[in-house]
Amino acid sequence: MTILVTGGAGYIGSHTCVELLENGYDVVVADNLCNSKREALERVKRITGQNLCFYETDVRDEAKMDEIFQKHNVECVIHFAGLKAVGESVAKPLAYYDNNLNTTLTLCRVMQKHGVKRFVFSSSATVYSAGNPMPLTESSSTGGCSNPYGWTKYMCEQILRDAAAAASAATASEGWSVLLLRYFNPIGAHESGLIGEDPLGIPNNLLPYIAQTAVGRRDKLPVYGNDYNTPDGTGVRDYLHVVDLAKGHVAAVKRAVQSPCVEAINLGTGEGVSVLQMIEAFKRVSGAAIPYEIKDRRPGDLAVCWAEPSKAVQWLGWRAQKTLDDMCADTWRWQKQNPNGYPL
Ligand code: NAD
Ligand code: WQD
Repeated sequence: MTILVTGGAGYIGSHTCVELLENGYDVVVADNLCNSKREALERVKRITGQNLCFYETDVRDEAKMDEIFQKHNVECVIHFAGLKAVGESVAKPLAYYDNNLNTTLTLCRVMQKHGVKRFVFSSSATVYSAGNPMPLTESSSTGGCSNPYGWTKYMCEQILRDAAAAASAATASEGWSVLLLRYFNPIGAHESGLIGEDPLGIPNNLLPYIAQTAVGRRDKLPVYGNDYNTPDGTGVRDYLHVVDLAKGHVAAVKRAVQSPCVEAINLGTGEGVSVLQMIEAFKRVSGAAIPYEIKDRRPGDLAVCWAEPSKAVQWLGWRAQKTLDDMCADTWRWQKQNPNGYPL
């Protein structure tokens, strides 16, 4: 079975390509490399000993996507391609709405044209409204997003629900399967140390910043606030291993093939970890020093955010397996072996 993976050269996409290939799927990647390097896909091939088909293209290029669907018998799309930096989305909202909405719309049109009915979407815990009690369930309230990035995910979920409803109303044959996977905080790297997260410039997210500090690329980790209403005052998140997350996508493809459904599903561990707990775990596992400095709270940050993960068990037969130590050890192996990320 052939799976189209948009954004397959990126952090989560490359790990998912590995799991798909190892599960016997044929993989076609469409990525414009705006936030990734071709080398990631070379390494996917090295890890798996298998080939994949790569198209360097913008997913908004409808003629090119049409050509890909003509050439390959795509049976399911996993849509990772998108812009994801929260701060940048506040500064460049139009670029975010254009990229994230128009990639999704283009895919829906081309899928409709070619009769492809299975769509696995990279959504995010960021679609949940602030003020929900923890843990977040799939029926916690959504919307009221604090930045354009979050709104793009919220809007894409709605676009996909509406497209699926219209497709099932219009046809007597099988309806669409749409799985809206709401990721919590993916971290870690493949255990080979060959692929991992390779952010451009100063990292926005906690783990790449910790890893770059541990390896000596950054002087000090800023800890954004220690006066939250949490056990040690620092922010609490639900971090999950990117390989677990990648396996969640394989489970979603299998579910999409079984029978039509439209479901939002949390992918998280259900465990909250604070910034200081993460620093301690990383220090212990790596043996490296991680100097840090308490700074003001980062605007827009929540104190706490973690998932109620049981719907994924029920719908996908998936649960996160890897521990916090695995996440730190694998991040560290990737960072040590590739201190400056992928070569150009
Ligand atoms: P990433 O930036 O590493 O990967 C995204 C990939 O999409 C990159 O390879 C980029 O080159 C490509 N891309 C972007 N716009 C494109 C376009 N118009 N056409 C073709 N390719 C394009 O990000 P990631 O962390 O792997 O995230 C993957 C998806 O998961 C994104 O949609 C992101 O919003 C979502 N997500 C990520 C996180 C996270 O913390 N990493 C959390 C929740 C959701
Ligand atoms: C985690 C914790 C920070 C960096 C963001 C997006 C979200 C999602 C994942 C895609 C917080 C603290 C961080 C640093 C720190 N992406 N921190 N020093 O904010 O939960 O989520 O990325 O959908 O949409 O908002 O993740 O890794 O940025 O922060 O103290 O240098 O670490 O304050 O408590 P976050 P994060």
